[in-house]
Amino acid sequence: MVLGNDPLSGVRVDYLGTQLDESSMAPTWWEQLSCWLADAARAELPEPTAMVLATSDIEGRPSSRMVLCKAVDERGVVFCTNYTSSKCHDLLATRYASATFPWVALHRQAHVRGTTERVSPAETAGYWRARPREAQLGAWASSQSTVVPSRRALDNAFEAVRRRYANVDQIPVPPHWGGVLIRPDTVEFWCGRASRMHDRLRYRIDEDCAWQIERLAP
Ligand SMILES: Cc1cc2nc3c(=O)[nH]c(=O)nc-3n(C[C@H](O)[C@H](O)[C@H](O)COP(=O)(O)O)c2cc1C
Repeated sequence: MVLGNDPLSGVRVDYLGTQLDESSMAPTWWEQLSCWLADAARAELPEPTAMVLATSDIEGRPSSRMVLCKAVDERGVVFCTNYTSSKCHDLLATRYASATFPWVALHRQAHVRGTTERVSPAETAGYWRARPREAQLGAWASSQSTVVPSRRALDNAFEAVRRRYANVDQIPVPPHWGGVLIRPDTVEFWCGRASRMHDRLRYRIDEDCAWQIERLAP
C-alpha cells in the first residue's frame, strides 16, 4: 500500500451542506436530533434511522455495527437487540456506547455518547407489539452472535419457532430481547462545509446538569 498512490486517495467530495450556527440549533439535543431524523426520512435516505453503534469489551477492544434507532426523547436514544449478543456483553462489562448516524448524502452526521441501560419491560413490550410477526419469530429463533453450524440449522430453528407459535395470536416478548437506552452526556451535530472547514456543534451536559452548546474545530 502506498498512501497517496492508491486510487482511493482521489475519492473526494466537497461538502456544501447547510451551515450550522449556534442560534439556529434547537434548545435541546433531542429536538435537534429528531429534526435531523425527520430530514433524513424526508430525503428518502435508505434506513434513515440506522446508526453505527460502538462498544468496547473489558479490555478496551472496540466493535461497531449498525442498529436501528427506535425512539428518541429527553432520556436518550433507544435501539432494540438481543440481550445475550456480543454488543450486550460489552455493555454489561463497560456500560459505555456511542452511536453515529451517518447521513452521508446530506453531508451530516450526529454522534451520541453516553452510558447505557435496558429500557423497562413495559417499554420493550410496547415496541414488540408493533413489530411484524416474522420479525418476532426471528427474535425467538436466533441466538444472536453465537456460532451456528449452517444456514439450514438457522432455517430449521425458525421453522420450529413458527410451528411452536402457530396457534398463538400474541407472541410473547423473549426474555433475551429488548430495548437499550443510550443516555448521552454529549451529542454532536456535524455538517460538511467547503474546504474541510466543517461545522461541529456539541451539546454537553455540565457539572450543574445543564446542557451547553459548544463549537468544535473540524
Ligand atoms: C441497516 C442495519 C440495521 C440493523 N439493525 C439492527 C438492530 O436494530 N438491532 C440489532 O440487534 N441488530 C441490527 N443489525 C445487525 C447488527 O449490525 C449486528 O450484526 C447484530 O446486532 C449482531 O451484533 P453483535 O454480534 O456485535 O452484537 C442491523 C444491521 C444493519 C445493516
